[in-house]
Amino acid sequence: MKKIIVMNGPNLNLLGTREPEKYGSATLADVEKLCQETAKNLGFSVEFLQSNHEGPLIDKIQEAGLAYKAGQVQGVVFNPGAYTHTSVALHDAIAAVAGLPVIEVHISNVHAREAFRHHSYISPVAAGIVVGFGIQGYALAIEGLAKK
Ligand code: DQA
Repeated sequence: MKKIIVMNGPNLNLLGTREPEKYGSATLADVEKLCQETAKNLGFSVEFLQSNHEGPLIDKIQEAGLAYKAGQVQGVVFNPGAYTHTSVALHDAIAAVAGLPVIEVHISNVHAREAFRHHSYISPVAAGIVVGFGIQGYALAIEGLAKK
């Protein structure tokens, strides 16, 4: 069974209690359950991870690039959190594994928020972007990846 990797960046471990008016009341465990169910219905397994640090996210992108080439991975769903707006290193990691489809997801509509959230280092190297659909965005991204 091919795998979809779902990655979450900093502070997303606090979903459910973190600014619920912006991010809703669902927890990261709820997001994982949603991803597992959505992927299973489409015939994929899910590897789910969250990190508050850039390095493990970069390592996982590199690993996913190799697994994609080996035909084991369908692609990556990635909510980079605040690294979206700061990380040249994550941009470069995705660019380096050319071919691996990475779908950028944001729970909130970043374009309706502060100006510093309007720029993404990830979008230019993403295969698709899902913004502002709440946690349902993860399911939409998985559905999109399944058709890639
Ligand atoms: C976020 C939006 C980012 O601007 C923010 O730093 C996050 C969450 C979202 O899912 O809406 O941590 O990626």
